[in-house]
Amino acid sequence: MRRLTLLLSWLLLLSLVLAACGGGGQQGAGGDDAVARGKALYEKTVIGPNSAPGCITCHALEPDKVIVGPSHAHIATIAETAVPGMSAAEYLRESIVNPDAHITAGFPAGVMYQNYGKDLTEQEINDRVAFLLTLK
Ligand code: HEC
Repeated sequence: MRRLTLLLSWLLLLSLVLAACGGGGQQGAGGDDAVARGKALYEKTVIGPNSAPGCITCHALEPDKVIVGPSHAHIATIAETAVPGMSAAEYLRESIVNPDAHITAGFPAGVMYQNYGKDLTEQEINDRVAFLLTLK
């Protein structure tokens, strides 16, 4: 009987340890983590190995405020219908890696930094897209 009790408490301990370890395995899978990382990256003034200008130096988050590029206040909503056949996420990604593919009405081509697609990692681009998708 004592052995059985010992075995049972050992099993209980083991399951507690396993449960504790399992909880930490969800990082980096998008969601809130990606949004928080994307916001922090978006707000940096200098980014990438070539010290490119950061997004916030040209884009404001306040509605209708133009710094150099258009305000991103409702960019998630704008992105949904910006290009027929393209999802909001696809449009935002393309606007970052290939800025001249679609020019926002009223703004000049060739002004947005053109090499983010090479300078930034896939994750850095994904995180920014995740953040921009929250700006409905
Ligand atoms: C040097 C200034 C500059 C910087 C830096 C810059 N942009 Fe832009 N961006 C522009 C301009 C100008 C436009 C409008 C012309 C066009 O469509 O390319 C634009 C357009 C966009 C658009 C499309 C907006 C719309 O209303 O459809 C998105 C999305 C965007 N930028 C995201 C970013 C992100 C993300 C970054 C940082 C990685 C960034 N931009 C950095 C100048 C800039």
